[in-house]
Amino acid sequence: MKIRTIRTKIIFLFVVIFGLTLSVFSGALYFLYARQSAQNFDLSLSNDALAIVGMVKGDSFLEQEIISGLIHQPLQANFGTNRYVQVISISGNVIMRSSDLKNTALPVTPDVLALALGHHQVFETLDRRTTRALIGEGRLRMVTYPVFEDLMPRYLVQVAANTATLEQSMLQLRLLLFISVPLAILAAALGGLFIAKKAFDPIDKIIRTARSISAEHLDRRLETGKVDDEVTRLSGTLNAMFDRIEEAFRLQKQFTADASHELKTPLTILLGEIEVALANPRKSEDYVKILKSAVEEIRRITKIVDELLTIARLESGQLQMQKLPIRLDEILLDSVSKTSAYASRRSIGINFEIHDASGEESEEVILEGDEDKLLSVFINLLDNAIKYSSDNSLIRVVLIPGRDSAKVQIIDRGIGIAPEDLPHIFDRFYRADKSRSSEGAHRGTGLGLSISKYLIEAHGGSLSIDSVKGEGTTVNIQLPTRREGRPIMSPPKA
Ligand SMILES: Nc1ncnc2c1ncn2[C@@H]1O[C@H](COP(=O)(O)OP(=O)(O)OP(=O)(O)O)[C@@H](O)[C@H]1O
Ligand SMILES: [Mg+2]
Repeated sequence: MKIRTIRTKIIFLFVVIFGLTLSVFSGALYFLYARQSAQNFDLSLSNDALAIVGMVKGDSFLEQEIISGLIHQPLQANFGTNRYVQVISISGNVIMRSSDLKNTALPVTPDVLALALGHHQVFETLDRRTTRALIGEGRLRMVTYPVFEDLMPRYLVQVAANTATLEQSMLQLRLLLFISVPLAILAAALGGLFIAKKAFDPIDKIIRTARSISAEHLDRRLETGKVDDEVTRLSGTLNAMFDRIEEAFRLQKQFTADASHELKTPLTILLGEIEVALANPRKSEDYVKILKSAVEEIRRITKIVDELLTIARLESGQLQMQKLPIRLDEILLDSVSKTSAYASRRSIGINFEIHDASGEESEEVILEGDEDKLLSVFINLLDNAIKYSSDNSLIRVVLIPGRDSAKVQIIDRGIGIAPEDLPHIFDRFYRADKSRSSEGAHRGTGLGLSISKYLIEAHGGSLSIDSVKGEGTTVNIQLPTRREGRPIMSPPKA
C-alpha cells in the first residue's frame, strides 16, 4: 500500500512511534513490577521464617527438643491462612509442622540442604507434585532458612506460600495493559486524525482557492489569518506570487495594446494619405510629396516592428549575443560619427572625450561583447540626446576608463525629464511628454531605453539616468572591461 497524503503519513508515523513507545514503556513497567512483586513475596516469606525462628528460639522446651531431635510434633500454630510452615532438623526429621500441611512434607532436596548449610536462605518454586498435594492447582514458593548456633547448623525453617494472589495481580496488570495499550493507540490515532485535520484543513482550503485562480480570475487571493503561522506565511508567499503573475499578465496585455496602438497610428496616417492621393488626379510633385511621407511612415512602422522583434527575442532568450573582444572607444566614436550628420542639421555638436588619468587622448578600452548591439545602444542614446536637445546645443560623450570597468556618460543640455517621469522612462512605450514626443522631431515609440538597458545589463553593465527638467540629462553607463590587452588603467578621475 502506498500512502498518498502527508496527512495519512503523519498519522501513520505518529501511531507507529506512539504505539512503540507505549509498548516498550508498558513492557518495562510490567517487567519491573513483576520483579519487584516477586522480590517482595520472597521477602515476606523470609520475614515469616525469621518470625518462626524467633518463636522457636524463645521456647526453651522446644529448643531442648530440637537438640535431642526426638519429638516430631506438628506445629499447631497456624501461621496465617496462606502459609505452610515446617521446621526440620539437619538430618531431615520433621520437628514442627503447621496444621494445614497435614501429612504432606515440604521437600528438602540435597542441593537446597547444601546451600542452606552454606549459610544461605534458599528460595524455590515447588514442584508440581508437592504443590498438587497441598493446594491443587497453583504454585507454591518456599524459603528454606537455616538456623545456626555457635556456628553449628541446628535446624531449618521452611515457609511456603501460594503465589496465587501475586499471579492474580500480575494477570490483572497484564489484562489492563493488553486492553489499555491498544485503546491508547486507538485514541492516539483518532487524536492524530483530528489534529491532522485541523492542521491540513487550511492547506486544503489554499489548494481549493489556488485552483480557482485562473487567467480569468487572477485578482482572487488566498485568505491570510491574523496569526503569523506557517499557513499564513504560505498564503502570503503565494499571494505575492499571484501579485507578480497578475502584474506580468497586466504588463503583457498592456504591451500588446500599446504595440497595436503604436502600429495603428502610422498605418492610419499612411492609409489616409494614400486615400487622399487617390481621390483626385494630382501633379507629379504632389505624388512625390505623398510618397515621401508614406516612406517616412513605413520607416516608422519598420522601426517599431524591429524593436518589437528585438523585445520578443530578448524575452524568449533567442537574441544571439556575441562575446568577442571589442573596442568601446571605437564603438563610441562610430556612434558619434553615425549620428552627427543628423545632429548637425539642427546645429547640434557632439563632443567625444576620454578622461583617463594619464591624460592621453587615445585610450584603448577593450571589453567582451557584441559590437552591433552596443553600437545600437549608443546610437539610441545619442538619438534621444539629439531629439530632446534644443538647436545649437552641445552633447558630450565622455569615456572614463577604470580598473575593471569603464564609464560612459552622454550629457545633453536638452529639455530634461520631470522627476515624476524619471522612474518610468525604462518602461516600454513610455514617453515622458506624449503630446510633444508623438509629433515631428520627437516622435519615438518609447522602446529605445528599455531595450538599451536590457542590452547593457546583458553585457554585465548598468544604465542609469540623471536628469533635471529644463537643464539637461546625463545617461550613465558602466561596463566591465577586459584587463589583458589594454594598457594599465589608472583609477578614474573623480
Ligand atoms: N536625453 C533625454 N532627454 C530628455 N528626455 C529623454 C531623454 N532620453 C529619454 N527621454 C525620455 O524618455 C522617454 C523614453 O525614451 P526612449 O528612448 O525609450 O523612447 P523614445 O526615444 O521616445 O522612442 P524610441 O527610442 O523607441 O524611438 C522619451 O520619450 C523621453 O520622454
Ligand atoms: Mg529613444
